[in-house]
Parts: sequence; C-alpha cells; structure tokens
Amino acid sequence: MAYSNFQHSIILLLLLFILPTFSQQSFRPKALVLPVTKDGETTLQYTTQINQRTPLVPLNLVVDLGGQFLWVDCQNKYTSSTYRPARCGSAQCSLAKAKDCGDCFSSPKPGCNNNTCGLLADNTVTHTVTSGELAEDVLSIQSTNGFNPGQTVSVSHFLFSCAPTILLRGLASGASGMAGLGRTKIALPSQLASAFSFARKFAICVSSSSGAVIFGDGPYGFLPNIVLDSNSLTYTPLLINPASTASAFSQEEASSEYFIGVKAIKIDEKVVSVNTSLLSRDSNGVGGTKISTVDPYTVLEASIYKAVTEAFVKASIARNITRVASFAPFEFCFSSDSVGGTRLGAAVPTIELFLQNENTVWRIFGANSMVNINDEVLCLGFVKGGQYLMTSIVLGGYQLEDNLVQFDLAASRLGFSSLLFGRQTGCFNFNFTSNA
Ligand SMILES: *[C@@H]1O[C@H](CO)[C@@H](O)[C@H](O)[C@H]1NC(C)=O
Ligand SMILES: *[C@@H]1O[C@H](CO)[C@@H](O)[C@H](O)[C@H]1NC(C)=O
Ligand SMILES: *[C@@H]1O[C@H](CO)[C@@H](O)[C@H](O)[C@H]1NC(C)=O
Ligand SMILES: *[C@@H]1O[C@H](CO)[C@@H](O)[C@H](O)[C@H]1NC(C)=O
Repeated sequence: MAYSNFQHSIILLLLLFILPTFSQQSFRPKALVLPVTKDGETTLQYTTQINQRTPLVPLNLVVDLGGQFLWVDCQNKYTSSTYRPARCGSAQCSLAKAKDCGDCFSSPKPGCNNNTCGLLADNTVTHTVTSGELAEDVLSIQSTNGFNPGQTVSVSHFLFSCAPTILLRGLASGASGMAGLGRTKIALPSQLASAFSFARKFAICVSSSSGAVIFGDGPYGFLPNIVLDSNSLTYTPLLINPASTASAFSQEEASSEYFIGVKAIKIDEKVVSVNTSLLSRDSNGVGGTKISTVDPYTVLEASIYKAVTEAFVKASIARNITRVASFAPFEFCFSSDSVGGTRLGAAVPTIELFLQNENTVWRIFGANSMVNINDEVLCLGFVKGGQYLMTSIVLGGYQLEDNLVQFDLAASRLGFSSLLFGRQTGCFNFNFTSNA
C-alpha cells in the first residue's frame, strides 16, 4: 500500500514537472497582451497586472517604458515554490549583466540567499535605487491574436530583481514593483520574445482610463473594427544612447531608454527657434529626446520650454484664445470658452515635432496638448525642466495617450499612429473580452 502511494506521488510529481513545459510547447503564442490602467487621481502612473509565482499571485506593477527589467517587492509575503535565485557566475547573471556577487546574513528567503548576483533596482519615479537579488520565477500572461486576449501562457524561468518594500515608495497604491520595457536583454520585451520565439517588437497604447501593451507583432485591433498594421504607422529610427540614464549605474552601460531624433519644432506651421545642439545628444549622452511613461507630462529643457510656450501663446492669441491665470504645475492656461472643439481635442495650435526629415512628423493635437483643469480652464500640459537637463525633451505619458507606439527592437525603429481619435478609436478600445 505504502509502496503504491509512493509510486503515485512519483507519477504525480512527474506530471507536475512535465505538464507545464508540455502545454507551453503545444501552444506557441504569436503575441501577448497586458492590460494597462491609469492611476488618474493621484500618481498619474500607468499600471499593469501580471501573475507571477507558484501558486500564481496577481501583481500590480507600474509600467516603465525605459525601465531595465522587472523588479518586485520580495520582502512582503513572497512565497513561491518556483523561486530560484541566480547563482554567481551563472548564465542568468551574465545575461542580466549582473556583476556583483553577494551573501545575505539572515535566514534564506526570496531576496536573501548566499552566492547570488545582484542588480540595482531603480524606482524611476523617485530616482531611488537599491541592490536586489537577481532571481527567476514563473510568470503568466495572456496571449493575443491582436484583437482579444486568448489563452494564458507561462514562462517558467522569468528573470527579475528582488527589491525591499521601501523601494515601493512613490508608486501607485497597491503596486508591488515596476515592469521595465526597456532595451536590455532581461526587460520584458526581450525575455518574452525569446521565451516564445516571436519578434522583438512591442507596442504601447495608453489612455486616461485603460490601454494595453502588446508584445510581438501586430496587427492591432481596436473597437469598432479598426485594425492598425505597419502601414498605419509612421516610422523613425530608435537612437541608442551610449550613456546610461539610470539613477545609478556602472560606467560602461548604455541607456535602456528609447530615444528618437527631433530635428525641429513647429507650432501652427511656424518654426520655433531653439538651440538645435540641445536637440541632438552630445558625446556624453546629454540632450536629445526620449519617451517616458513615468513622466506624466512632457518635460522640456528650460530654454526650449521658453521658446515653445512663447510660440504657443502667440499662436493661441492669433486664434483669439484667451489666456487666464496659471494652474500648477502648468504655467500657460486658457479660457475654455475661447477654445473650440474638434475630433482631435481642443482647437489649439498644433505642435509638430519634425523627425528624420520633412515628411516624418509627430503631431501633437489638442487632446494631447491641453489638460482640462475644470469646466472653464484648460492648460498646456508641458512642464519646465531644469537648465542642463540630461535629456532635452522627455515626451511624457499625457502626450502618448491614445497614440499607438510600436518599438521594433530588431529593426531599431519606432512606429507611431498619431492620435487614434482621427480614426474614430482610442487606446481604451482594445477588446479585453477573452476569446480563449
Ligand atoms: C550565508 O553564509 C553565511 C556564512 O556561512 C551564513 O552565516 C548565513 O546564514 C548564510 N545566509 C544564507 C541566507 O544562507
Ligand atoms: C546651445 O546649447 C549648447 C549645449 O548646452 C551650449 O553649449 C551653447 O552655448 C548653446 N548656444 C546658445 C546660443 O545658447
Ligand atoms: C479674432 O477676432 C477678430 C476680432 O473679433 C476677428 O476679426 C478675427 O477674424 C478672429 N480670428 C480668428 C482666427 O478667429
Ligand atoms: C469583444 O470580443 C468578444 C470576443 O471575441 C466579442 O464577443 C464581442 O462582441 C467583442 N465586443 C465588441 C463590442 O465588439
């Protein structure tokens, strides 16, 4: 009797180990989808939900477009039978470029093991960094055909960094870490692409309410029956910034963030006069334009901010728009009564970012430039950065809303749709009803 029970447990154990790999092989997703929600009341951060560990635990994570990897709080209630720390000198440590090797002088638990390599987990909201153990665990995520979420799939050895609870300060309430979508080999896009052998491409589509991150190739479908593919996007090269922009880093690291080349700015078709050397990056990686989901509004270097806002106010006056008192954090506000409405938002001057040539233009219309303060006031949603800012233009979350932006890492190019309101849809229109 005892013997046969023993046999049963062996078979059960075998099944437990074999089944997950088996189910993964029998269905290979072409793309994956994560839902995104904006914490619109307080932090203005974009959060997503991912299931991790064994048994699976749903985690709320702040989406960090340029973030280096996934980091989660391991100090508070991390229990998982599949947690594995990365041992010093292992392939995992070298993939993650984790050079430090450390011991932990406490009882072993997730985040505290001997002979493990560590990574600096970066809270890019507060610019706080702590050292965290590199580890792997199961990650589970929904597949997609581009139109709906489908069958759930899992990655059994997903690499991430284990952070202490204190690093969560400044994140949206309920968040237990950050999901880094940056250019590194262990950020979500590359790990997911290599786990399922699909294209190293992903797209983000955020809005003031809900949105999606889609890993893998398009097409991308939005209600009511709007399908976006590569023909619907305008492409510009993604630029590699050889200098790290992380809060703390070792000398030779390149930035994990996404940079594009803005060559000129026009407002209502007039060129804004800015110091063009600030638009390109110098040899120290200073200057240039990056895209961020962590900055809620576009941040402009002080002299660019001055030139852009002056030109915007001038063009607004030419349109008979009335300026009113400022409303922190915004300096330039207008009376709603004096502004008409269009399908693309408030009828204000159009801000154009000229990229690699005259025909490649990122246009910012009213829906992305103006923030409604109340029924009477709307403000230009740009904020002033310091002088000698590391990056001259940081295109922030509000300016990305309802624009589909695709990051093609293999081809090193970025595709953008322009404001989807022009196509009678928006990022909140991804159909999250599963068809699995
Ligand atoms: C690591 O090794 C030290 C020294 O052998 C030991 O005191 C400590 O308890 C160990 N820590 C863990 C987490 O195993
Ligand atoms: C333009 O910016 C560069 C880099 O910060 C600076 O060295 C230069 O003096 C600026 N030029 C003008 C005309 O302000
Ligand atoms: C602005 O107002 C003036 C005076 O009322 C009018 O002549 C002009 O056409 C208006 N301009 C626009 C762009 O509406
Ligand atoms: C969303 O997708 C589901 C599943 O395919 C479908 O049944 C439903 O009609 C879709 N919703 C809309 C509003 O089209």
